[in-house]
Amino acid sequence: MAGHARQILERIVPGGRLLGIDRDPEAVMAGESTLAPFGPAATVVQGRFGELDRVAAEAGFARADLILFDFGISSAQLDNPERGFGFRSEGPLDMRMDPGSDLTAARIVNQFGESEIERILRDYGEERWARRIAKFIVARRPLRTTRDLAASVEAAIPRKAWPRDINVATRTFQGLRIAVNDEIAEIESGLRAALQILNPGGRMATISFHSLEDRPVKSFFIVESKDCLCPPQQAICTCGHRATLRIVTRRPVRPSPEEVAANPRARSARLRVAEKLKPPT
Ligand SMILES: C[S@@+](CC[C@H](N)C(=O)[O-])C[C@H]1O[C@@H](n2cnc3c(N)ncnc32)[C@H](O)[C@@H]1O
Repeated sequence: MAGHARQILERIVPGGRLLGIDRDPEAVMAGESTLAPFGPAATVVQGRFGELDRVAAEAGFARADLILFDFGISSAQLDNPERGFGFRSEGPLDMRMDPGSDLTAARIVNQFGESEIERILRDYGEERWARRIAKFIVARRPLRTTRDLAASVEAAIPRKAWPRDINVATRTFQGLRIAVNDEIAEIESGLRAALQILNPGGRMATISFHSLEDRPVKSFFIVESKDCLCPPQQAICTCGHRATLRIVTRRPVRPSPEEVAANPRARSARLRVAEKLKPPT
């Protein structure tokens, strides 16, 4: 939707150029229209974070001074029942950010084995009831809509164990969405690609919405800010690893109470920033 892109462009023109990348063609179209007033300073293309280096090179951005990742799904995706991300309304079991990709939530819930569904809900949804929910999903096949899925979760979790702060189906929907879009692997490969094309002294920034997204960023920044990755008990370094990043935000930056009041969906956002080191001379 290019909300951040607009803010950045206002600070870098004239002279700067910005490339926006999203795997969702609807977001690309919305971004193009938001950024149209900036003319040739802004380019928006469809692509995945994981192939950022190739996508950027093809768009004529071989190197970058700032790379900002805003992970997860957008409000536009969540609020459109046709995309299948939300448990509140009836929609198809889709959840693909890129409607051109193969895997849908319907295929996972209707064709994957029970133990694989359990693993997805536990690992990507951090759902304590993963085993029981997977069992209920398999017993109720075929599931056709988001309401069918939400109803399976509601039936699987005893009422007195329903969470107070989030919807009972939130974790299941999150787990499936992350699996459908391979989001964690995308974050990891996106960060590596960003490091490749970032200029020395340039910065990469990430906005995560939950710990599953934040964790790979935190470990990537820690590993890339260390000169040696050998075990501490080893006296002499044999790994030869050299730091490539300096961590700018020791702790993630959280939104202010005013920002959360104005935009409640920002409440769990965490911003991390790291700067690419200049190579030793
Ligand atoms: C939180 S939203 C971004 C909102 C945007 N910053 C704004 O201000 O309107 C995340 C966006 O990233 C996209 N996205 C998520 N994972 C992606 C990936 N691996 N590659 C490309 N785009 C991705 C989603 O399609 C979604 O549009």
